[in-house]
Amino acid sequence: MAEELNISNNVSKEQKYQELLPQIKGLVSGEADLIANMANVAAAIHMATNYLWVGFYIVKEGELVLGPFQGPIACTRIKKGNGVCGAAWLTKQTQIVPDVDAFPGHIACSSASKSEIVVPGIIESEVGFVLDVDSINLNELDSIDARFFEKVVGLL
Ligand code: SME
Repeated sequence: MAEELNISNNVSKEQKYQELLPQIKGLVSGEADLIANMANVAAAIHMATNYLWVGFYIVKEGELVLGPFQGPIACTRIKKGNGVCGAAWLTKQTQIVPDVDAFPGHIACSSASKSEIVVPGIIESEVGFVLDVDSINLNELDSIDARFFEKVVGLL
C-alpha cells in the first residue's frame, strides 16, 4: 500500500480524479474490511480535494448511522427519506445538490456546507451505505464528482 497520495496541483478536477482513482484502488485492494477501507477512502478524497466533509453513513437497523469521515463533527443518525442522504437511500440514486438551501429537508450538520453530493453504495441489491461529500461553495459538486464517487463506491 502506498504511504502517501500523489496528486498534481493546478490540474482540472477530472485530471485530479484520474490520478486519484488508481491510488484509491491500491488502498482498498489489499484489505477486505469495509470500515477500514471507508476510513482510508474518506481520508484520500479529503486530502486530494478542498471539500469540507467527506464520509460515510452505513445502514444499520433501519437507519443511516455515521461511519468513517473527515471534516467537522456531524449528525449521527438519518432516517430513510430524510435529507440528501436519506433521499439517496430511498431512491438508490446519486443526489447532486448545487444549493443545499434549495433542497427540501436538507439536514444542515454544518452551516458552512453549501453544496452536496450523496452516492448510494449497493450491497446485495440494497443500499448498504452512502458516501456523502459537502463543499463550502455553491455549485461545486457536479456530474464529474458523481462519476468519480460512483466508481469509488463500486470499489468498496
Ligand atoms: N446534509 C446531509 C446530512 C449529513 S451531513 O452533510 C454530514 C443530509 O441532508 O442528508
